[in-house]
Amino acid sequence: MGLDVGVIGVGMIGQEHIRRLDGGPGGSRVVAVADADADRAAAVAGQLPDAKALPTGEELIASDAVDAVVVTSWGPTHEPYVLAAVAAGKPVFCEKPLATTEEACRRIVDAEVAAGRRLVQVGFNRRYDPAHRALKQALDGGAIGAPLLVHCAHRNASVPPHYTRDMSIADTAVHEIDELRWLLGREIAAVQVLTPRKSSRGGELQDPLLVLFEMSDGVLVDVEVSVNVHYGYEIRCEVSGETGTVELADPAPVTIRREGAVAGLVPGDWRERFALSYDVELREWAGTAAAAQPPQGPGAWDGYVAQVVSDAALRSLHSGGRVPVELPPRPDLYASPTS
Ligand SMILES: NC(=O)c1ccc[n+]([C@@H]2O[C@H](COP(=O)([O-])OP(=O)(O)OC[C@H]3O[C@@H](n4cnc5c(N)ncnc54)[C@H](O)[C@@H]3O)[C@@H](O)[C@H]2O)c1
Repeated sequence: MGLDVGVIGVGMIGQEHIRRLDGGPGGSRVVAVADADADRAAAVAGQLPDAKALPTGEELIASDAVDAVVVTSWGPTHEPYVLAAVAAGKPVFCEKPLATTEEACRRIVDAEVAAGRRLVQVGFNRRYDPAHRALKQALDGGAIGAPLLVHCAHRNASVPPHYTRDMSIADTAVHEIDELRWLLGREIAAVQVLTPRKSSRGGELQDPLLVLFEMSDGVLVDVEVSVNVHYGYEIRCEVSGETGTVELADPAPVTIRREGAVAGLVPGDWRERFALSYDVELREWAGTAAAAQPPQGPGAWDGYVAQVVSDAALRSLHSGGRVPVELPPRPDLYASPTS
C-alpha cells in the first residue's frame, strides 16, 4: 500500500526526509511540498517525479492528494501545521521540537486527545539509531544491573549564525531529554544547568554547558553540550550500573594506524552520524501511516514532556539552581510511560 506525503519546510532536514520518503521501501512518494521560500519549494518539487509546490502549508494539509504530512519547517511554525493535520485526521510526522512552548505542545496533546486517536509522531531520531537501540537492549536485558549514573556528550563542530544561547538546550540537549526518558524508562524529576569556562570560539554563546538531570528513580545524568568543537560531530553515552558499564561504541567504521598514531574518523555532522536512524525512523513511520495505524514512535506526549523539561532547563540556565520538573497526569491515550 502506498503513502502520498506532503512536506512542509524543505530546508536541510526536509530535503533529507524527502530523499528517504520519495520512492521509499513502503511505496511512499512525495506528492506536494510547501515552503515560506516559494523558490525553494519550486526547486525541490522540480526534482521530484510526482510533486507539486503548493503556495502554503495549510493548502498542502487540506489537499486531497496528500495522505500524510511531514513538518520540517522552523520550530516556531510547527504548532499550527500539526494542529491542522490533526483536525484533518491525517498522520503527521513533525521534526523536533513539537512546538517551542509548553502551552503550544499541550494544545497539540489536547487536540489529539479530543480527536480520540494518535496521529502525531515527533522526530526524536535517537530512538531509531542502531547503536542507541543496542544500548537500550543491553540495559533492558540486565547486562549491567540497575543503572546508577549516565555520562553523555553532545558535541557539534559548529552552529549557524542564528543559533542562540537557549538553542543549546531547546534545540540540542532536547535530543538527550527524549533519549534519557526512553533509554531509562523513567521521567526526569529535576534539572540543573552549570556554565563552565566559556570557549573562546563560541562568541556570545555560553558554550559549553553542563546539564545535570535527576531521573525519578534517583539515577543521575550529566550531559556536556558543546557546539563549537570544530573536530566533528560526536554523541557519547555511557551508563554505569551495579555490575558493569555499557556505552555507545565509536561510530568510526575503520581504525587507521600509521606514523605512530591510531585514528578513527569522526562524523562531520548529524546527517552522517544518524543517517541510519533517519532511514529506520521514516520507514517505520510511513509503514504505520500507510496502514492507518497509530504511530509506534515518540508521540505528542513525548514532545510535550520534552518541552516541559527543556523549559525547566532554560529556567536553570537563566536563573541558576536546581529546577524540579512537574508533569501533569498522562492522558490515557498515551498508555506506556514514554510513548
Ligand atoms: N532530528 C534531527 O536530527 C534534526 C536535525 C536537523 C533539524 N531538525 C529540526 O528540523 C527543523 C528544520 O530544521 P532545518 O535544519 O532543516 O532548517 P532549515 O532552515 O534548513 O529549513 C527550514 C525550512 O523551513 C522553511 N520555513 C520556515 N518557516 C516556514 C513556514 N511558516 N512555512 C513553511 N516553511 C517554512 C524555511 O524557508 C526553510 O526552507 C527544525 O525544527 C530543527 O530543529 C531536526
